[in-house]
Amino acid sequence: DVGWIEVITGCMYSGKTEELIKRLRRAIIAKQSVKVFKPMIDNRYSEDKISSHNRNMLEAIVVRHSDEILPLVEENDDVIGIEEVQFFDEKIIDVCKYLADNGKRVIVAGLDQDYLGQPFENTMRLMAEAEYVTKLLAICVKCGNLANRTQRTVKKKDRIVVGSVGMYEARCRKCFDPELKNE
Ligand code: ADP
Ligand code: TMP
Repeated sequence: DVGWIEVITGCMYSGKTEELIKRLRRAIIAKQSVKVFKPMIDNRYSEDKISSHNRNMLEAIVVRHSDEILPLVEENDDVIGIEEVQFFDEKIIDVCKYLADNGKRVIVAGLDQDYLGQPFENTMRLMAEAEYVTKLLAICVKCGNLANRTQRTVKKKDRIVVGSVGMYEARCRKCFDPELKNE
């Protein structure tokens, strides 16, 4: 069996989680065996579910480290979903490769850029590795054009700051202001 990797990427609010849930639900309808993993760090709306900004949800297995994934994957699993791939340790790339090499359809969703516009390494590497890449766009909350950036609206410098509305906005390249000059 030949597997493959699909990457769903884009800025926040671009619909990555909705697209992941859609693909996984269709696999479930096709009676395939599906497992979804998400990193512990993301406890936004729900612990053991993946959840889109409009509260569409699907059961997920929460793991702290990418090492925990392979022992939880069974021979008969057809599709492996991975949510928020940018938050995993870097071994997640080898985990995805191993799964695809061993016949699994691997669907990962993750941010392509951080709040400064720098690429998230896991997503970047997996985009190079993948057979299929889908890059989604959101709507810029400032001007209504298509948005490919995530604006952090609070003054925090850590790369990882979990949050959604009130802390992050979708912005186009014109309205994106990573240094908060005009905020
Ligand atoms: P992502 O996983 O990429 O952050 P989600 O799939 O969780 O995105 O959420 C996408 C949904 O977010 C959209 O269908 C829409 O209902 C909502 N949404 C909120 N703000 C925006 C925005 N600025 N642009 C597009 N969708 C938005
Ligand atoms: P989302 O893409 O599913 O909407 O979620 C992205 C998560 O990543 C959200 O919890 C905010 C967080 N985040 C960071 O930690 N650092 C960043 O630079 C950005 C843009 C988002």
